[in-house]
Formats: sequence, C-alpha cells, structure tokens
Amino acid sequence: MSDWIELDRRHVWHPYTQMLTAAPPIPVRGGDGMYLITEDGRRLLDGISSWWVNIHGHSHARLNRALAQQAERLEHVIFAGFCHEPAARLAAELVERCGGQLPRVFYSDNGSTAVEVALKMAYQAWRHRGEGQRRLFIALDGAYHGDTVGTMAVGGTALFHRAFRDLLFEVRHVATPASRQAGSKSPDLTEVLEQEGEHIAAVIVEPMLQGAGGMLTQPPEFLRRLRDLTAEHGIPLIADEIFTGFGRTGRFLACEHAGIVPDLLCLSKALTAGYLPLAATLASQDIYSAFLSEDRGKTFFHGHSFTGNALSCAVALESLALFDDQRCLERVQQLEALFSERLAALADWDMVRETRCLGGMAALELAPRGDGGYLDTIGPRLTAAFLERDILLRPLGDVLYFLPPYVVTDDEAHRVFDAIEEVLPTI
Ligand SMILES: Cc1ncc(COP(=O)(O)O)c(C=O)c1O
Repeated sequence: MSDWIELDRRHVWHPYTQMLTAAPPIPVRGGDGMYLITEDGRRLLDGISSWWVNIHGHSHARLNRALAQQAERLEHVIFAGFCHEPAARLAAELVERCGGQLPRVFYSDNGSTAVEVALKMAYQAWRHRGEGQRRLFIALDGAYHGDTVGTMAVGGTALFHRAFRDLLFEVRHVATPASRQAGSKSPDLTEVLEQEGEHIAAVIVEPMLQGAGGMLTQPPEFLRRLRDLTAEHGIPLIADEIFTGFGRTGRFLACEHAGIVPDLLCLSKALTAGYLPLAATLASQDIYSAFLSEDRGKTFFHGHSFTGNALSCAVALESLALFDDQRCLERVQQLEALFSERLAALADWDMVRETRCLGGMAALELAPRGDGGYLDTIGPRLTAAFLERDILLRPLGDVLYFLPPYVVTDDEAHRVFDAIEEVLPTI
C-alpha cells in the first residue's frame, strides 16, 4: 500500500462517512474525462459527477490551461476593496446567462455559503426597510440546502441535521407535490401566507428537482405558483440552483422550465465544472438597493477569505465557453431521451417503485426492503455491486440515480443501464 493511503487512514476524517464501519475510501490518483483512475489502475466511470459538480469530465485540457494561465497572473487577492478581471467578467456572464434581471453577483466559495448569503440578504434587507418582524423562512418538504447552521435550518431532511435541531432558527416547511403524495401533513404555501404573511422573510426552493431529498421532481406549474404567490405578497423567492444550474435539468437554469425569475439565485457546484470551490449569489436590483445607504451600518457584512478567488473565476469562465462550444444543452436533452427510454424498460420491474428523469438525471426509487430512507442498507450494497463493475454510483438511500458529466457517450450511458439491469435482481 502506498504510504499516503496509510496516512489517509490514520489522519483524515471523511464527509458523510461513519468512520467506524464504512469501507475504506478508494484511493484515486488521476482523472481522465468520464473516468477516475484508482491507485491500483482501475478506471471507474464517474456516474455521479463527483457529487454533482463535474460537467465537462475530469482533467479537461482547456480547463487545465485556463487554470495554469491564471495562476501565472494572479492566484488570489482580498476581494474587499480590490477587484480583478476574471471575477468581473464572470459576474457579467452570469448576469446575462441568468436572464439579466438579477444584476448583482456576490461571490462565496461553496453551495452552503451561497445559500447563507441569500438568506442573510433577504433577512437584512427587511431590517433596512423597517420590517423587523419578518423573521420566518419558508422551505419545502424534503429540502436540502447545505450543512452549515443556517442552511440546516431551512433543510427538510431530518436525519442529517436532527442533532442540531435546538440550535436552528424557525422555519415552516410547506408541501410539494411529491411530499403530498407521500402523505405529508405540511401546509400549502397559501395557508402559511394567510396565517404568517407579515412575518415571512423569504421562501427558498430547489426549483424543479430536489437532489439530496431523493431526486424528487416537481411540475413547472408548482414553481410558477410559488413565484406568483410570493410576488403577490411581496416576499422574496430564493432559488437554490446549486445542483440544478448549468444545464443539469436540460435548461441553463431549472427556473426556465417555469419561465420564472427569483429575487435571489444561488449557484455553485458546476460553476467551475467541478474544478474549484466557488459560489455566486445573484440578487435583484430591489434587494441590492435595500443596502445602499450613507449609513455604513447598512453594509452587507459578509465575506469569506476566498471570496471571488481568481483561479476559480478563470476556470468558471472557461467552463462557460466550453458549455457553448460543446453544445451542452443539446447534449443534456439527448441524454434525457436516452435515459427516459432505458428507465421506461425498468419502470414495471417489481423492485422499482418509481422512475424519475429530468435532463441529465435518471433516478430509480426502489421498493423499500429494510427501513427505506437514507440509511437503508441497500445503498452501500448497490455501490459495492457497481464498483465491482467499475462504475461509481452512490444511491441516496433507496434512490439509485445516474448523473454523469455531459461528456458521457451513448455507449457509456448504455453500459451503466445494462449494469443496473444486471445488478438489481441480485440485491
Ligand atoms: C440544492 C443544494 N443546495 C446546497 C448544497 C450545498 O452545497 P455544498 O455542499 O457545496 O455546501 C447542495 C449540495 O449538495 C445542494 O444540492
């Protein structure tokens, strides 16, 4: 065993990992397009885009070059009181690609911080407007917005965050079509607006597709209705597109499926094509204007050491250029057709409770065997069975999903579905 693997075993604490019982992590020495190359020379097909971040494949020549060139010029500079070209150009690109109605970009460095920023902006803006009674956030059943304290509060996945329940600020969760169908007793947004309208600071949603909650899809009408209701009541809508942005659902933004524009929009993950940590929170002119004041106390006092990192911004810009050159949106739409066809063949299998597909995401909700849910032991057994076939899939409990980088070929996608058909009857 290489000595660094021993060092990992001895010193590293891995995320979302029960360190006592989990299988040892797989040592990876390289990446090449769709594949992760393990220390012992296997080529694993990355079927989950390395936690949903990768879109152009691993170690892409153009992204490598953009990173190296930027490193020669400027790696990083404090972003308060200073600016630089990659961050300015990227902000302009994001504003344009997101439809032009969210003209201000606030950088941070991961998905959770992008959401924290949006929550804080919405909250503080009300204080500047003299509506300090607005303290309540509304989120969806089954929501996942990150693992920091504020994002845990708006999260709806009790298992991940129950140890912290007493620390979290007050949030009401409202039903989604999927949660209602599963028997949720949560109210609809209309009810909460009627009862608490004057106290609501913002509504936060994962538009069209809730990832960590189990790859749950929503009809566009649901999102449109949320937008109409929040607009009617003058309440900011925060769209968390950290997972769904950059074409994942077949449109550049998932909000486009419903033709809506939120007041705050959170982006991260595929923003740098999975290369470097970076996030952006885009704000409407209205939210931004609430902070403009001669009173310096009305500043948005938020910033991270690596805010607006120049290396990350340069890679993000090159990734957007690649996105166009490689016609990623068209490719995702082709993948959706292929995935839908293969899922249709699995839909009436006994062990498949439901299939779901949107853009470059294909999911199979399996009939529960153990407790169901995230800790169902079926997940680790499926992961092991696919790894034996050199495929990386990592189910969310009993939801098995395939979410590859957009450079996946048709043959590679078919190989994964063939493996699913082979593995399922053995589990
Ligand atoms: C919708 C959504 N929001 C926020 C996050 C948190 O992002 P990060 O893990 O970069 O903090 C995630 C991560 O999976 C996500 O899917």
